[in-house]
Amino acid sequence: MDAADVVGPGVMIDVFAHERGPTREELIDRGRACGAIVTSVADRIDRELLEQLPSLRVIAQAAVGYDNVDVYACRARGVIVTHTPGVLTESTADLALALLLACARRVREGEAMVREGRFGGWSPTMLLGHELDGKTLGLIGYGRIARAVARRADAFGMRVIASTRGDVPFENEPYAVHVTLRELLAESDVISLHVPGSRATRHLIGEPEFARMKRGVVLINTARGTVVDEAAMVRALERGQLGGAGLDVYEEEPRVHPGLVARDDVVLLPHLGSATREARARMASSALRDAMRVLRGDEPVHLVPE
Ligand code: DGY
Repeated sequence: MDAADVVGPGVMIDVFAHERGPTREELIDRGRACGAIVTSVADRIDRELLEQLPSLRVIAQAAVGYDNVDVYACRARGVIVTHTPGVLTESTADLALALLLACARRVREGEAMVREGRFGGWSPTMLLGHELDGKTLGLIGYGRIARAVARRADAFGMRVIASTRGDVPFENEPYAVHVTLRELLAESDVISLHVPGSRATRHLIGEPEFARMKRGVVLINTARGTVVDEAAMVRALERGQLGGAGLDVYEEEPRVHPGLVARDDVVLLPHLGSATREARARMASSALRDAMRVLRGDEPVHLVPE
């Protein structure tokens, strides 16, 4: 995408052209004169920051999640917040499946064995995993990404069950059956999280939920780290309640709990859910288009929900 094509003439764009995101100081310094800022999940947008950005009219978050943005503080300041749902669904679902397969088939351990020169030849009992066919996948949250995961899991022969917030049942879903959270925890061989990060979902999965899971269940998290109580997850792994985990997100990113790093049965990725060329290009143009709509006085397409 060429940003100039989206914004048109008469608009100045300041591109932060670095591999890393801006520091808070850089964001304030460069954002002071801006009417719109395109942000990422790594930028913390809070009241103190907003106070230093007097010209700001819109935060266009280039992500579907926006738990890094204090939406209430933005509203109080009259700053509109938009996000980019729908454009990273397939990429994130692909990554959830990659983590699921990596855990089920012990890909991380096998790769390390070969690379470190520990592969001494084929053995009938080496690194045995589990096949997905016939296993039950439980999806917590059933939005766009969960549905895309369900479609993929169906192709692998999995039975898919899903619980939704408030346990509102859904009907006519070709790939998943609605269950309560309690049923999901008790029945799933693999659990994949697909709820947004928020106060309401913080530690949705903690000690009591781990205790209700089947022994040996695998947990996949491509949603937000705050949804899981990480200390409780480490304890569940240590006592074998959890048979493995595939994680792309962490409670205090970029910090990763040392108890997770220490384990062979945990696959750790650095928040790569939307990290494909296709998704990132769409995220950038979607965010930029909504930023421009607001600056021109038009309604944005993807205002964050109330
Ligand atoms: C999102 O869009 O919320 C992702 O976490 C960013 O990669």
